[in-house]
Amino acid sequence: MIIDDHMPDIGESSIREKMIEGLRSHPKTLPCVFFYDQKGSELFEKITQLGEYYPPKVEIPLLRSTARKLNSDLKDCDLVELGSGDCSKISVFLDEIPENIRQTIVYCPMDVSREAMEKSASILRNRFPEVEIHGINADFLEHMEKIPGNRKRFFCFFGSTIGNLTKARTMEFMKHLGEVMNKNDRLILGVDMVKDINVIERAYNDSQGITEEFNKNILKVANAHLGTNFNPDDFEHVAFFNKELSRIEMHLKAKKDLEVTSPMLKESIIFKKGETIHTESSHKYTVDHIMEMADAAELCVSNIHTDDKQWFSLAEMVKR
Ligand code: SAH
Ligand code: AVI
Repeated sequence: MIIDDHMPDIGESSIREKMIEGLRSHPKTLPCVFFYDQKGSELFEKITQLGEYYPPKVEIPLLRSTARKLNSDLKDCDLVELGSGDCSKISVFLDEIPENIRQTIVYCPMDVSREAMEKSASILRNRFPEVEIHGINADFLEHMEKIPGNRKRFFCFFGSTIGNLTKARTMEFMKHLGEVMNKNDRLILGVDMVKDINVIERAYNDSQGITEEFNKNILKVANAHLGTNFNPDDFEHVAFFNKELSRIEMHLKAKKDLEVTSPMLKESIIFKKGETIHTESSHKYTVDHIMEMADAAELCVSNIHTDDKQWFSLAEMVKR
């Protein structure tokens, strides 16, 4: 198994700059890519197993039926998965493909988390020894052109991870993806759809507090990179649906006035009681939004696979 490592191109100083810039802005933010250290990736895996977190429960059967439909189209392709995480989604997908076709596939997971990639790729290799694996430890916002392009590619972006980008970033990302895609390449984009607000809000406020732990873990990641003294217990987990922007917003709200310091920072970071750090947005989509994203990439939507309640969609897109 090969793993290309492009993360050193980003560098520790740029990670620190991005975090400091977020913490010094008004309102304060931390980019959600920083959730995924080893602990954060493990917590996300736990989230996917929660009863309240419905997206994987709806997406997985769709992945199965879509893989069965695509079947021989997948022969001799590179299956490129952006934000592959624990590779559980691609396992389900590969499970439905006959072995003689699987033998011709090269699986290329792309993720910022090397730990998640190494662990999941070795599980995958045991499960599907006939599938070649070429991992790309990289940022899909910066390194898309590093993906090998000498064979037909299926870009898979599952789990509605695209929903964690801002609207402007999403459009830039789609435009770039459209440019990177060759004539015969295809995209399968997983998106979580707009639905009853109570169902959505429950998914981000689970009764076991795992999402709260996931949210607060970003402060430990900040401490590790910035040498700050954030105490996660000083913050409250807040997640609500912003109807106007069609997204769940996750915030960390200061329980009291705070001064966060670090030997690396000239000035401390001051919080007033009730002040928040915006840690994540998770957009929820309509068919019109899917069309807008395809337009930004100059792609054509060839199919939308969805469930009976239209809670989740897998949109298949091809070059125009
Ligand atoms: N696709 C999986 C995992 C989703 S969690 C699933 O549906 O279950 C989001 C994953 O995307 C994490 O593994 C995280 O490390 C990765 N990720 C987030 N931002 C990224 C970025 N900018 N570039 C590459 N990977 C990213
Ligand atoms: C990875 N991403 C699509 C998840 C989501 O639902 O937006 C991350 C997550 N945040 C809280 N729970 C899950």
